[in-house]
Amino acid sequence: MKSILDTRPALAAEIMKVAEVAGFLWEKGWAERNGGNITVNVTNEVGCGCSLPDKALAGPFAIGETLPNLKDCWFFCKGTNRRMRDLARDPMANGSVIKITEDCAHYYIVADAVVPPTSELPSHLAVHNWLIGKGSSYKACLHTHPTQLVALSHNQAFLQKDVLTKLLWSMIPETRAFCPRGLGIVPYMLPGSNSLASATIAALEEDYDVVLWEKHGVFAVGEDVIEAFDMVDTLNKSALIYRDARAMGFVPDGMSEAQMADLARAFNLPK
Ligand code: 13P
Ligand code: ZN
Repeated sequence: MKSILDTRPALAAEIMKVAEVAGFLWEKGWAERNGGNITVNVTNEVGCGCSLPDKALAGPFAIGETLPNLKDCWFFCKGTNRRMRDLARDPMANGSVIKITEDCAHYYIVADAVVPPTSELPSHLAVHNWLIGKGSSYKACLHTHPTQLVALSHNQAFLQKDVLTKLLWSMIPETRAFCPRGLGIVPYMLPGSNSLASATIAALEEDYDVVLWEKHGVFAVGEDVIEAFDMVDTLNKSALIYRDARAMGFVPDGMSEAQMADLARAFNLPK
């Protein structure tokens, strides 16, 4: 079967990164059934002047809001109700390439099959709109259900501002170094809702790259999907160290404030 990827190696490379991460999410146990979703802004990889919208497979569909910075942008999206383990195996049958229309309020499904995009599309597209608006080079949004981070979100004490950031940073130097903006908090809201989208942007605006959706999952942004995944993986590693210390019968000491400040200076970290 002909694929949009056949003549677009740069687009194929981005979508292969999505497939690789989808496989990791499944192996980690963070992607039960259809859990989680990924979108990537692939406008540069599709190439401008592309005539593909004339050949759209389906649409236009309403986004549900007008996102002025997304005019004519292209995205690869996991399909709603599709499994990460299937996305890993066959990304073009379990995800789709969509194009936003000129009115910035609708999209067409362009390739390779009519796979309706994720139910979290409002959050993802609102975040992409915000990223473009602030001139960010970030192209990927990842939502997943990392078991131990979600478990921590079931305790109000951990949902106070930067309590988890400091706890997770203190478990291992890598977390301080590679998740230098920490973990923002978004209170529980209906999955797929516009209010969840606005609250996510408000949290990202506080200068976080990863935010925890209470009793649900995380939402991460990055230059590409690999970078977004690595941050979540690192934060969850810290959560595992914390859990294992507690399971061994003690509360872990954690690195001291002075040790973490030292790291921040040595690595020239943003916070
Ligand atoms: P989708 O299958 O629609 O992407 O939903 C999965 C999910 O995790 C919702 O929050
Ligand atoms: Zn979810």
